[in-house]
Amino acid sequence: MSNLATDYPAETTPAHHEDWLPIGHLDDIPRQGARVVARPEGDDIAIFRTADDALFAIGNRCPHQGGPLDQGLVHGHRVTCPLHGWRIQLEQGEAVAPDQGCVPRFPIRRDDRGNLYVRLTPVDAVKDAPET
Ligand code: FES
Repeated sequence: MSNLATDYPAETTPAHHEDWLPIGHLDDIPRQGARVVARPEGDDIAIFRTADDALFAIGNRCPHQGGPLDQGLVHGHRVTCPLHGWRIQLEQGEAVAPDQGCVPRFPIRRDDRGNLYVRLTPVDAVKDAPET
């Protein structure tokens, strides 16, 4: 069973991609908690760990008015923005209806020692990238 938000082929591991950024250990993030990874270009990334140990990496700016999602309440596989209460579905990075909007999602992986890695390129951009 995978606890990752996004599954990638087995060969897509940190050892095969230099752009996987080490971001610490699973134990660094409390369950139903988050941490922030700064991006040199673009908005920061919020890393979420849910109660069932799933991991998600999404842009840290709420699609409503830019609230800091890492400071929101994590419940299930959603986070509620601390500013006005929009709920963001972590798998899709989309606001829960009736609200509308989305945030970028980023690939995140955990190795067998619990070390975490994130890519700074959003998931959709990774899918569109040519094979190397
Ligand atoms: S800024 Fe997030 S709900 Fe308004």
